[in-house]
Amino acid sequence: MKAHVYTPEEHRTWARLFERQLNSRTRQIHPMFAEGIRILELESDRVPDLNRVNTILKHRTGFEGVLVIGHEDPRSFFPMLSERKFPIGNFIRSAGDLGYTPAPDVFHDLYGHLPFLVNDEYADFSEKFGRVAAQYLHEPELLRQFERLYWFTIEFALIRTPEGNKVFGAGIASSASEVEYALSDQPKVTPFDFEKIRHLEFKIDEFQKQLFLLESTAQLYDCLEDFDSGVKRQ
Ligand SMILES: [Fe+2]
Repeated sequence: MKAHVYTPEEHRTWARLFERQLNSRTRQIHPMFAEGIRILELESDRVPDLNRVNTILKHRTGFEGVLVIGHEDPRSFFPMLSERKFPIGNFIRSAGDLGYTPAPDVFHDLYGHLPFLVNDEYADFSEKFGRVAAQYLHEPELLRQFERLYWFTIEFALIRTPEGNKVFGAGIASSASEVEYALSDQPKVTPFDFEKIRHLEFKIDEFQKQLFLLESTAQLYDCLEDFDSGVKRQ
């Protein structure tokens, strides 16, 4: 797909979003995120050139961002992940409402997800997640369980660190207001429990009222086989 040519106003939208995430990047999100932003040399003042970012990312973990239109269907998303490809919205939200995007845009996808995918273990886990979930492309109810696991971890998990609880999910990390909300006493935060997640519905158009707290990255990376065994028993 041909890359959208961003206007000066759209580059300013990126710059405003990037600027207002400064505090969350440096203090509130798991440190692997800021490290990924540094390694990918994401620009503060303009939408980064995806080809340039991909050159670094591919060299690191073999992952690459691939331009897509709109929201990626799980039946194409998980196979992409299994090939170390990550969909990137080919647009940026409007300048008028920085907190809202109708579908995952370049700020959510590129800024929120790609920095995590610089990390070797995270990248391996993501590929495996895609591979395991892709066994169920024709069984929507079972596939749905993987969508939920993905939602409550890769997009919206918190994680315990020696410096206190931090944001781990890219869906939180790419929204300044959701970072504040997630780390406040407003959402219900409970220990990571994939059996609970398996059947838990979520809403995509509001702040997440239920969040799960990971004890470590390993707790997440090691859960896939058990999660899949539970799916297979059904
Ligand atoms: Fe996302």
